Amino acid sequence: MSEPRAAPAAPVSAPAKVDVAAKLALIVEHWRPKVIAELNGQEVKLAKFAGDFVWHRHEHADELFLGVAGSFRVEFRDRSETIGPGQLIVVPRGVEHRTVADQEAAALIFEPAATRNTGDVVDARLTAPNGARV
Ligand code: NI
Repeated sequence: MSEPRAAPAAPVSAPAKVDVAAKLALIVEHWRPKVIAELNGQEVKLAKFAGDFVWHRHEHADELFLGVAGSFRVEFRDRSETIGPGQLIVVPRGVEHRTVADQEAAALIFEPAATRNTGDVVDARLTAPNGARV
């Protein structure tokens, strides 16, 4: 015997799709992630990389990088992974890492809202404001 279906939830405003390429075209600065979507307390951010980022760790957040354009490395102290479009890596919380892009690259980043991009480090040049949208 099946249960009757629950009544549909009260309607919420239907979300519009997000065009990642169009958002990417609006980003001019490197290392300044921009929020393009939010869900379940997480943010989806889009960022352009060029050069070397600072070594850092996130004590309480796993961090996912999905390659969007170009390729970049996610470096760990003992090894690195090269990430291209359509490839992703999850950096576990507490693990020291940095991103390096020999040529400009772009990535989607998934992590809890308000995660500082430089983790446990504050860097005058690289630490970006949280919550910036594009
Ligand atoms: Ni990080």
